[in-house]
This record gives sequence, C-alpha cells and structure tokens, in this order.
Amino acid sequence: MSDALRFDDEGQGEPLLLLHAFPFDRTFWSGVTPLFVKAGLRVIAPDLMGFGQSPGKGPWSIVDQAEAVSGLLQSLGIRKATVLGLSMGGYIALALINRHPEQVKALVLADTKATADSAQALQGRANAIKTVQEQGVGAFADGMVEKLLAPTASASVRALTRSLMNQPQPGVLAALAALRDRPDRSQELANIRVSTLVVVGEHDLIATPAEGQQMAAALPYGSFTKIAGAGHLTNLEAPDKFVSAVLDFLETSAR
Ligand code: MLT
Repeated sequence: MSDALRFDDEGQGEPLLLLHAFPFDRTFWSGVTPLFVKAGLRVIAPDLMGFGQSPGKGPWSIVDQAEAVSGLLQSLGIRKATVLGLSMGGYIALALINRHPEQVKALVLADTKATADSAQALQGRANAIKTVQEQGVGAFADGMVEKLLAPTASASVRALTRSLMNQPQPGVLAALAALRDRPDRSQELANIRVSTLVVVGEHDLIATPAEGQQMAAALPYGSFTKIAGAGHLTNLEAPDKFVSAVLDFLETSAR
C-alpha cells in the first residue's frame, strides 16, 4: 500500500482542508461536508496517518502529520487552503502553519489548544496507552466517549460518536504517544498572520471555552465563537451552528 493519505475531495471553489479529531477518521466530517459544499467550498478531508484507510502504524509525531497534509495539498496542486482542525486536527493545523505558513489562507481552530499536556493529562495518556494495549480500542473508546460530549447530547449522537471511534489499534497507540509528546505552541500564536477563528463548545471539558478565549486573544487576527449546548465535538453535536460559525467567519474575514 502506498503511504499517501486517503482523502475525500468534494465540491468546487475555495479549498477547505478538514483535519479530524482523535480517535476518528475522515467520516468525522460527513455531517458537515455537504453543507460546506453547498456553500460553494471545495472540501478536502483526509484520513490522518494511522486512521481510517490511511497507513501509518507509527511512531509518528504531530509534525509528521502536518507534513503529510502539506504534501497532500501540494499533490492536489492547491497553493493555499483554509485549514480547519478540531482538537488533534487543531494541533496539526498549528504545526502546519508554523512550518508552511504560505499554504494557509485562514485558520479555524476548533475545540483545541496551543498548550502541551498538563501533568494530569500526561497521566491520562499513560493510562490510555495501557488500556488500548491490554484491552483494545473498544474498551478505551467506551471509557472516552462520554468525556467528549455535552451532557445533553442525544442518544443518536452518542451512538454515532462511539461507532466512529473504532479505529486501528496501531494508529490509536501512535496518536496517544504523539499527543503526549506535542510541544507547547502558545508562543507561536503571536506569529500567525492569517484570520483565525477559535470555535469551542460551551461544555467542552478537554479544550475549554476559557482556554479558547485566551488563545483567540493571543492571536493577532483571532476571533472567538462559543457553540451553545455542544461539548468537545462541536461538528457532530451541533453541525448547523458549527457550519454557520465557519461560514460567517469566511464571509467576513477570509474569502
Ligand atoms: C481529540 O479530540 O482530538 C483529543 O481529545 C485530543 C487530545 O486528547 O488532546
């Protein structure tokens, strides 16, 4: 199998690169892609390395993921794209704009943060690695799903989220190590010269609204939107509000 990323490429117009969260694949975006396409955007959604159909057993780093998506844009002949990353996808988007700012037209950082793991989060990574190694991805996903969603998330959103988390074990283990080892990029925010929207779910416990607001304030061209009623997975929990927030941002600042 070639080591190129598998991806969807739908619609015509300004390119929008969607970088999914952990532990998901490009189907994470299925609910919002048609809305973006209808709004006249070309949506490119890869399976990040080690997820879905993309190869990448690891080890790999967040920077390796950024280099892979940079290569994908180049291979498609896309000089610049709006880059939207959610959580892990946001960490990758921050690495991408640090290394290849010329490829990023505008940025959407959803439910993500620029800081590295806290001591508590590092302990959580170690526990997660143990669970995945000893009991498999299913047990890990069963324990994680509730932390991702708002308390009011519907049964169908819960079921959908859990089913999307059935990802290959080597990719999940590689990701947990890469997430654990990612650097603090807070100091780099001041260097980001493109319009950037920070979107956070009201009930996000992993990347909180307070952290999102702080990140937006540190960005020279940053703005902040909170998605009412959603937890960490704003695109899955509130797809219409999520898409509206992104389209409003593109309309006013980036198109
Ligand atoms: C994600 O949604 O991608 C993860 O929560 C990221 C993380 O664990 O840091």
